[in-house]
Amino acid sequence: MPSLRSFLLLAATAILSSTATFATALPHDHHDHAHTVNKRLPGTWYHPEGHAAYNLFRRGTAQTDGTVYAAVGTPQWTAGYPPAKPDPNALPKAWTDAYNAAVSAGKIPKIPPSTLNGNPVYPQGFDPNGNVVCSATYKCRNNDDIWDAPDGVWGASFDDGPLDTSVPLYQFLKQNNVHATHFMIGVNILGYPDEFKMAFEDNQDDIAVHTWTHPYMTTLTDLEVVGELGWTMEIIHNSTGGRLPKYWRPPYGDSDNRVSAIAKEVFGLTTVIWNQDTEDWSIGQPGGTTRDKVNASLKQWITGPKSPGLIILEHELSNNTVGAFIEAFPLIQQNGWKFVSIAQLDGGSPYSNSPSSTGAVTPGQVAVLDASDDSSSDSSSSSSAAPASKTSSASAPASSPSSGTSSGSANGNKAADSSSSTTSTASSQPSTTGGASQGNSASTILGSGLLTCLSVFFATLVLS
Ligand SMILES: *[C@@H]1O[C@H](CO)[C@@H](O)[C@H](O)[C@H]1NC(C)=O
Ligand SMILES: *[C@@H]1O[C@H](CO)[C@@H](O)[C@H](O)[C@H]1NC(C)=O
Ligand SMILES: *[C@@H]1O[C@H](CO)[C@@H](O)[C@H](O)[C@H]1NC(C)=O
Ligand SMILES: [Zn+2]
Repeated sequence: MPSLRSFLLLAATAILSSTATFATALPHDHHDHAHTVNKRLPGTWYHPEGHAAYNLFRRGTAQTDGTVYAAVGTPQWTAGYPPAKPDPNALPKAWTDAYNAAVSAGKIPKIPPSTLNGNPVYPQGFDPNGNVVCSATYKCRNNDDIWDAPDGVWGASFDDGPLDTSVPLYQFLKQNNVHATHFMIGVNILGYPDEFKMAFEDNQDDIAVHTWTHPYMTTLTDLEVVGELGWTMEIIHNSTGGRLPKYWRPPYGDSDNRVSAIAKEVFGLTTVIWNQDTEDWSIGQPGGTTRDKVNASLKQWITGPKSPGLIILEHELSNNTVGAFIEAFPLIQQNGWKFVSIAQLDGGSPYSNSPSSTGAVTPGQVAVLDASDDSSSDSSSSSSAAPASKTSSASAPASSPSSGTSSGSANGNKAADSSSSTTSTASSQPSTTGGASQGNSASTILGSGLLTCLSVFFATLVLS
């Protein structure tokens, strides 16, 4: 993480030099002229923790639910988490209990996992656009999920961090005094603890779930879904003083009524998709988009209709993805968008048991929603008691997903969330989603973002 280190060094240098300048400019204290005293420099350049000045700036980790959690980035902190794909047969009992309770209560629709054939494909008899499945990949909108921002609102979110490429983004957001929601990948949090802390502690931005290893979630079994969500919940919970994240975004926008119900009923997570897609992750990839095209799309949306408000898929993956956003930011402001994080647009906190990243935290375990939730809402307006009735719209994808030019390989990993063609026409229809996708040549592109982060993660393990 050289960029963070150099930033810290720079910052430390700046602080030290400005302190020095400041000190020499101070008038001399005449009482301090006992020339015989040999003054020594203090052993540290900062006040001890008990110093009163800390009360002025105390934040974040100081406010926890009272539990002592392993410090972020330490070996004790790393030790408890799966280094890669979670084993569905080794899940904490609380999670499987919560899952089983939700199944018994009839809250998890029985939909078979999809298989990846360019796009997720369902067995015959399961219409991805129908009320039962309602696949977000096919742009079927479940009423419980968030796709649009309110009119005039820019719901800011960035996916796939934390990474070292996130640092300029975090700095920029902070300098401009705005907040965003960061949909984070669990193994990236493990690999980039300093960047994680920067987003949470320095920026006080929203931390949200983007799964543990970034799979197509609808291809997984129920318990695999539980593992991907649960471990990411757990590492965020244990690294934020016990806060329980409220939002998750499926990689590639791939969710359906089954996956969304598991997220909601077991972990209390609300699914967040998007209504425009920069495809920024594919800049520089074979057949990918270009920085200029991302620039042009952003300009079109920024200067276009304000209804609905925008939730644009953007990434922390590279200098280009971050740079395109930074370049566009002045135009967002000039056009009068209200720039807020996803939690802010949804009217509150990114956490279900704390009002903010600094507020009081109510103790809560990662899966605790079963008992109280189920008993109080079995026949009420519970979120997914009748998922089939929740479907509000089912606009078809631009072309049949299985008709793409995909190689048909089961490994359809792409760099980031979007699996759309780079010739998407969504930009001409701001009110429709650009999120989902056709199988296309991009399906042969390896998930370089994830690969990068995984390899850096393993490199980190080796180094530490
Ligand atoms: C999370 O914190 C709790 C409470 O300290 C602890 O019991 C649990 O083992 C931690 N989880 C991991 C994966 O370290
Ligand atoms: C991207 O790289 C260029 C060239 O090294 C640099 O000037 C710029 O600051 C970088 N932008 C971001 C957002 O990292
Ligand atoms: C597009 O790029 C130009 C510089 O090439 C920049 O001035 C402009 O602000 C960018 N617009 C957006 C929306 O990013
Ligand atoms: Zn992603």
